Amino acid sequence: MDKLVIQGGNRLNGTVKASGSKNSALPLMAAALLCDTGEITLERIPDLKDIRTFRKLLDYLGVETSYHENTLRISSSDLRCVKAPYELVKQMRASIYVLGPLLARFGQASVSLPGGCAFGPRPIDFHLMAMEKLGASISIEKGFIEAKIKGSRLKGTTIDFPTTTVGATGNTLMAAVLAEGTTLIKNAAMEPEIVTLCCFLEAMGARIDGTGTTTLEIQGVESLDAKDFTNIFDRIETATLLTAGAITGGSITVSDIDPGHLAAVLEKFEESGCSIITDSGSITLEGTDAIARTDVITNPFPLFPTDMQAQWIALMTQAQGTSHVIDRVYHERFNHIPELNRLGARIEIRNNEATVHGPTRLTGTTVMSTDLRASASLVVAGLVAEGVTEVLRIYHLDRGYEQIEKKLNSLGASITRESYQEFG
Ligand code: UD1
Repeated sequence: MDKLVIQGGNRLNGTVKASGSKNSALPLMAAALLCDTGEITLERIPDLKDIRTFRKLLDYLGVETSYHENTLRISSSDLRCVKAPYELVKQMRASIYVLGPLLARFGQASVSLPGGCAFGPRPIDFHLMAMEKLGASISIEKGFIEAKIKGSRLKGTTIDFPTTTVGATGNTLMAAVLAEGTTLIKNAAMEPEIVTLCCFLEAMGARIDGTGTTTLEIQGVESLDAKDFTNIFDRIETATLLTAGAITGGSITVSDIDPGHLAAVLEKFEESGCSIITDSGSITLEGTDAIARTDVITNPFPLFPTDMQAQWIALMTQAQGTSHVIDRVYHERFNHIPELNRLGARIEIRNNEATVHGPTRLTGTTVMSTDLRASASLVVAGLVAEGVTEVLRIYHLDRGYEQIEKKLNSLGASITRESYQEFG
C-alpha cells in the first residue's frame, strides 16, 4: 500500500491546472452505453482509480475502451452483457449509473447492490423508484437489482424526487432519453455534473428542456448518435487545492476552471479573510495569517458542497475562534474528525454538526482515513502540522485526486509517496 509523507510548514505559492471532473466523467462514460453505433471520444477524463474501475465495468459489459493522456475512447456497439458484478460495484457505488442506460437500451439490467459506505447509509431507493415509475419491474435477488421492462421501451412519466439526488437524477435522465413519450423530473439536481450530462446527451440527439434548473423535461427519442465531448474541470479538486493554499497562508492560482461552479465556496473563502480574484478561466486565492472563523452548512448545488466539508473543517482548525460545520447531505460523514484530533485539532461532533475550536497547533503523526474527502482533509492539515504527517491508505485519495502530491509539490509542498505494509 502507499502512504503520503508530508513535511509540514511550507507556504504554497504558484499556479496549477485543474484536472477533469471525476463525478462528471463517470455519468458521461455511462451515457456512452446508450449509443449502439460509432465511437465516442471523451476528453479531459482524469487518470484516477474510480475511472479505471468504471472502465473495467465497461470492459466486463463488452464495451471497447482505450485510454491515453486523459482521452477516453468508447465503442458500445458490441455491448451484450447487462450484468454489473459485485466485485466491481462494491469498489465504486457510482457503478449504479449503468442501471438507467442498460434498461433503456436492452430492456433489462442486473446490477449488484453496492453495499455499505464509509460515511453512513447511502441508499439507492430513489434510483429504483424512478426506474419503476418509468415502467421497469424491479426485484432484489441474491444481492442483485434485477430490472426488466414490461413492454419494448421505458415509458415517459413524472418523477418527483423527495430529496435532491445527483446520482438518481443522472440515472433517470439516461433512462428517460430513450423512453417513449415525455418524462418530467422534478426536484432534479442542478450540479454542474448533471448540467454536463444533459449537454452530452443533447449533443447525441436527446431532447431535454430545463437544463440547469430543478425541472427537467425530456422528450424520448428512438436512438442517439455517437458524439465527441470534453468533460468539465473538477470543482472539488480545485476547492481542495485552494484550501491547501489558504491553510498555509499562501497565494495560489488554479487555472482551466469556471469560477461559477464554486461561487458558494469562494464566498466562504472571502468570509474567512482570504482574498479571491477570478477571471473566466482561473481563481487566485491569497491567504491571510489570521483566518476568520467561518461557519458552513452543506447542501445541494448551488450551495456549499458536502464534498468540501472535511477540507473546510481542516482549514477551520487554524481559524481564530470557534466555527460550526453542519452536513445536511450526509449526516454521518465525519470519519476525519478523530484523525484530525490526533493531529492536535479540537473538534467535537454532535449529530451532523462539527464544532471546531481554533486555532490549534497541529503536530505531525500517522493518520489514516476511510474515505476520499476525509483523506484530502488529512493532507490539507498535514501541510501545516509541525514535523512529519504520514497519511496511510492513500488508495482512497487516489480514487479522486489526479497526481495530488505532484500538484501540491509544484506549489512548494514537501510530500513523498512511499509504500508500506500494514500489519494484521
Ligand atoms: C454524488 C457524488 C458525491 C457527492 C454527492 C452529494 C458522484 C459519483 N458522487 O453522490 O461525491 O457527495 O453526490 O453531492 O457524483 N439518497 C437516498 N436515496 C437514493 C439516493 C440518494 O436517500 O436513492 C440520499 C443520500 O443518502 C444523500 C442524498 O440523498 O443523503 C444525496 O445523495 P446523492 O446526491 O444521490 O449522492 P450520489 O449521487 O451518490
